Order: sequence, then C-alpha cells, then structure tokens
Amino acid sequence: MPFRNGQTLSKQKHGACFPKFGLFSSLLFTFCCLEASASSPEQGDSSVRSCAGPCPVNCTCVIALGSSVSCVVNCTNIGLERGPTATDLPPGTNVLDLSRNRISSLETSLFDQLTVLRELDLSHNLISTIEESIRDHLSNLTEIDLSRNQFLCDCKLSWLVSWLQEGGVRVRHPETMLCYQPPDLRFQPLLNISLLTCGVTYAACLEILPSGGDKELVIFSSSTPGNFSRKECNSVCYGASQLYGGLGARRECLCSTNDEPNRLSGSPCSAFCTKPNVMKECHLTLAHDVFAVDFTTSLLAPPPVSVHSPAHLSVMSSVMPVTLSWDFGDRSPRLNASETSDLTTRHKYALPGNYTVVVTAWAGNKEVHARGEQRVTLPPLLELRCPSLVVANQSLAVGLINWGGVSVAVDWRITNNDGQEAARATPACPSDAVFDAESRRCFQMVPEVFSWAEARRQCLSTGGDLAVVRSDPLRSKLAEKVKQ
Ligand SMILES: *[C@@H]1O[C@H](CO)[C@@H](O)[C@H](O)[C@H]1NC(C)=O
Ligand SMILES: *[C@@H]1O[C@H](CO)[C@@H](O)[C@H](O)[C@H]1NC(C)=O
Ligand SMILES: *[C@@H]1O[C@H](CO)[C@@H](O)[C@H](O)[C@H]1NC(C)=O
Ligand SMILES: *[C@@H]1O[C@H](CO)[C@@H](O)[C@H](O)[C@H]1NC(C)=O
Ligand SMILES: *[C@@H]1O[C@H](CO)[C@@H](O)[C@H](O)[C@H]1NC(C)=O
Ligand SMILES: *[C@@H]1O[C@H](CO)[C@@H](O)[C@H](O)[C@H]1NC(C)=O
Ligand SMILES: *[C@@H]1O[C@H](CO)[C@@H](O)[C@H](O)[C@H]1NC(C)=O
Ligand SMILES: *[C@@H]1O[C@H](CO)[C@@H](O)[C@H](O)[C@H]1NC(C)=O
Repeated sequence: MPFRNGQTLSKQKHGACFPKFGLFSSLLFTFCCLEASASSPEQGDSSVRSCAGPCPVNCTCVIALGSSVSCVVNCTNIGLERGPTATDLPPGTNVLDLSRNRISSLETSLFDQLTVLRELDLSHNLISTIEESIRDHLSNLTEIDLSRNQFLCDCKLSWLVSWLQEGGVRVRHPETMLCYQPPDLRFQPLLNISLLTCGVTYAACLEILPSGGDKELVIFSSSTPGNFSRKECNSVCYGASQLYGGLGARRECLCSTNDEPNRLSGSPCSAFCTKPNVMKECHLTLAHDVFAVDFTTSLLAPPPVSVHSPAHLSVMSSVMPVTLSWDFGDRSPRLNASETSDLTTRHKYALPGNYTVVVTAWAGNKEVHARGEQRVTLPPLLELRCPSLVVANQSLAVGLINWGGVSVAVDWRITNNDGQEAARATPACPSDAVFDAESRRCFQMVPEVFSWAEARRQCLSTGGDLAVVRSDPLRSKLAEKVKQ
C-alpha cells in the first residue's frame, strides 16, 4: 500500500474490519479493509475506527458515522503554527478541523491531495490572507469556518469574498469572519466589504536605483477610499506594513508589499514595465505619486532664543500619528507624547549655551531619531556707569553702555527730594528744528513739494517719520517757522 504511517507519536486508533460494518456501503467496507491491511496487524478498540493513511502528530483521525461516513481529522487546539502537509494527512480526509491553533498561513499544497474534503474548520487562527489557488483544490468543499482570524482585507482576498458569496460553500459564523487590517476596516465582517475597487489593477514602474534604469513592476494590492495626500497615504501604507504607496485616479490610497509572486507573475504582463506594447494590452491602470513607504523624522532648525523666552521646537514626521519623546539636552525630564499629531513643543532653558535636542519617534515597531541644535543666548546687555562721587555744583557724568542691543532708546529725568522733576531728557534737536516740550519731540520742516510717499521716505531717511500735527500751540509755533 502507498500509505505511509511514519508518525509514531500519533494518537491514531486502529480499527478493524468486521461484520458490524457490513450494514454500510460497500465503499466503506472496501475502505475499511484497505485500512486494515495498511495498518498494523494489531487490532485496537473496535468502536472507534481510524481513517486510512497517516495521521498528523497530536491529531485524531477517525471515521465518523453521520448522515454519511466521513474521515474526520481533528487537530483542534494543539498549538500548531503551520498547517500540516498533505502527506501527513489521510488522503480520504472529509472533515479537517484545524481550529484554535496559531496558524498564520496556509500552504496551497496542503489541499493538493484532499480531493474529497467537504468541511474545513480554520477558525481561531492567525490567518491574514489565503491564496486564490487553493480554490481549485476545494471543489468538493461544502462548509468552511474561517471565523476569528486576522484578515488583511485587500484585493488579494477579493476572490475569497466572491467565492463565498456565490453560495456554493456554506460559511459558518460569517459575522465573526473579520478584517484586522487595514486599520479603517478593522473588525468589519470580511463578507460585508465591497472590494469593488479591486476590479481595477493599479500598477507602477519604479526605477530601481542601484541597477541604473531598471524598472520594477509594482502591483498595488490594497486600496483605501478617500481623498488622500501622498503624506497621508504614506501613513496608511506604513500602518499596514506595506513597502510602496501611490494614489489612484480618485486619490484613493494604494499600497503594495510587491510580494512575488503577484497576480501577474508568469503572465506576459509581468513585462509591463519594459515593453511598451505590453503596457497597452495588459489593462493595468498606472498609479500616480508612487513612493517607497518610509518613516523618517527631522527637526526643523530652531532659531536662537534668549533665556527669557521659550524655544519653539518642531519636528517633521512622514508618518502620523507618532509617539514622541523629547530630550531637550539640558538634563530636564523627557517630554513624552503618545500617538500624537502635534509635532511642536515649547521649552524654556535656564542657562545660555548650545543644547542638542533629540526627538525619538515611534510608529509601528520602528524607532527613529532626529536631532538639532538649540542655541540659547543671554539678552542684549546694557551697562550703567555712574561716578563714584557726586559733587554739588559739578556736572554729573552718567554713562549707559550698550552691549549689542539694537534700537535702544534712553529716557531720563532728575527729580528733587520731594519728587519734583528738576530736569529730563531732551532729544538733540537740529538747529533748524522746533522742540515741542509737551510731546518731547523735534519737528523739522522740509520746505519742498513732495508726494505723501516721497515725503515719508524723506523723513525716514533722516531718522524720523512724517508727522501730522494736531495740537494748536505746536501748529502756531511751526507756523512761525514757515513764515521765516
Ligand atoms: C504533541 O503534544 C505534546 C503534549 O501536548 C507536545 O509536547 C508535543 O510538542 C506535540 N507535538 C507536536 C508535533 O505538536
Ligand atoms: C474536534 O475535537 C473537539 C474536542 O476535542 C470537538 O469539540 C470538535 O467538535 C471536533 N471537531 C470535529 C470536526 O469533530
Ligand atoms: C470530488 O469528489 C469526487 C468523489 O466524491 C471525486 O470523484 C472528484 O474528483 C472530487 N473532485 C475533485 C475536484 O477532486
Ligand atoms: C453585514 O451584512 C449583513 C447582510 O448584508 C448585515 O445583516 C449585517 O448587519 C452587516 N454587518 C455589518 C457589521 O455591517
Ligand atoms: C481633495 O483634496 C484636495 C486638497 O486637499 C482638494 O483640493 C480637493 O478638492 C479634494 N477633492 C475632493 C473630491 O474632495
Ligand atoms: C518618557 O519616555 C521615556 C522613554 O520611553 C522614559 O524613559 C521616560 O521616563 C518618559 N518620561 C516621562 C516623564 O514619562
Ligand atoms: C554655540 O554655537 C555657536 C554657533 O553655532 C557658536 O558661535 C558659539 O560659540 C557656541 N556657544 C557655545 C557656548 O558653545
Ligand atoms: C552752588 O552754587 C550756588 C549758586 O551758584 C551757590 O549758591 C551754592 O552755595 C553753591 N554750593 C556749594 C556747595 O558750593
């Protein structure tokens, strides 16, 4: 017999072929006898009968007598991380229960030889996608349970949706057959999702830089509806662990891991990027704004600040939201912001100096750093110099020294003991100007005809500004000048 039975740890129970089964179909009888001859001569418990062929380790492979006779392979809850291989299973498997394991992907070859499989239970696993080619092997399937997995609801699964919607296969628990990715479809029932946009296959030809001019065909596998900018789409694709992004005709966000094989592998269309005539025939729609998904940050160079004002720091991030941790470089505690879209912060430094600011950003499971220099200065200094001794009836020299300040104006006054003003600052008026004691300003007349703008320019060039005089006493004072 071709059947192998190498699984020594198997819990397979060996049945016997005896007259009580004569009641059932002759098929079973033959089957049974085949099995008896294939298995060890030792005869086991005659009430539980095993299927012919190997049985995977820790699974049970028994004949069940329901409305029809079935070989039931039950591998539920045994901690499987991968599905068994076809050669581990009895070729006559009718019911395969792989539920409650940690299976994340299925080998298509698993189903190669299971031509009589009727029921498949893959519930409570970690499956994210299923290759379309398994459908070809499951033509006798009548019932499937794919609930409680972690489906990536992109175009790669559109075949599954249409297959299950055709109704040939009964779907158990469709209400808990949910999407896990992309984030905006999370916890939506897979069968409720319209994968209509999947009819259009978006593609792009990306230049592979090191190889100089070679172009790689990128097939976009998922599409998120919406009016996206390239930057927003980068965040979406990054969140879905994709490598490439691009925008569709309605600015929907397209993502791709560009896994091989893709839906064009092996077809003439895989030469899309290299042969222009193929490009026309393949009905691919070119995506625009195509980019490689990235997560980078940079700190905008902050202008110097004085110790008296807070520094405004901002970081740029290609992915949002991000978790940020700011290190201001002055040994103050880090400032943390989780899952934020606010990329700015303020910080007040106590001492002048040059500080290295480091921002650590996290998104997904990647961490990136951005650093920059914040220069913190002292404000401009003014120094007052006073004589050490003040002598009556001698002039008093008080000096104000300006260290680097600009637009410094000085006002002074001298008051008596009783608070009465004895003297105050007077601007140095040019000899042909009029000093107005009330406003303490100099007014200079320029006896020429100017336009308003020209007049103003003229005033500004002498360090003043054009004035409109509203006070009557000043007007009469100025009027005297005009008469002269
Ligand atoms: C079978 O089950 C036993 C006990 O639960 C476990 O130690 C062993 O690793 C399992 N074998 C396989 C192949 O899963
Ligand atoms: C597999 O075994 C479990 C319990 O061990 C049972 O609940 C489940 O119904 C069985 N699966 C099939 C398809 O018989
Ligand atoms: C479906 O099962 C029948 C026997 O029940 C078998 O003849 C047929 O080949 C199976 N279909 C496929 C696609 O293997
Ligand atoms: C999914 O679709 C079914 C049938 O169209 C509907 O009854 C159900 O409410 C939908 N579920 C969700 C979450 O939209
Ligand atoms: C999409 O967004 C762009 C800019 O954000 C805007 O100019 C355009 O009108 C929007 N289009 C639609 C259909 O909302
Ligand atoms: C901020 O995050 C860093 C790194 O995760 C941590 O070491 C630090 O204690 C956090 N600071 C605060 C104030 O939570
Ligand atoms: C800070 O950096 C500036 C230029 O970047 C430099 O001129 C200055 O001397 C530095 N100050 C200190 C305290 O290192
Ligand atoms: C200062 O000068 C005034 C008038 O010129 C005079 O009266 C006064 O005595 C002088 N004071 C001193 C301390 O010399």
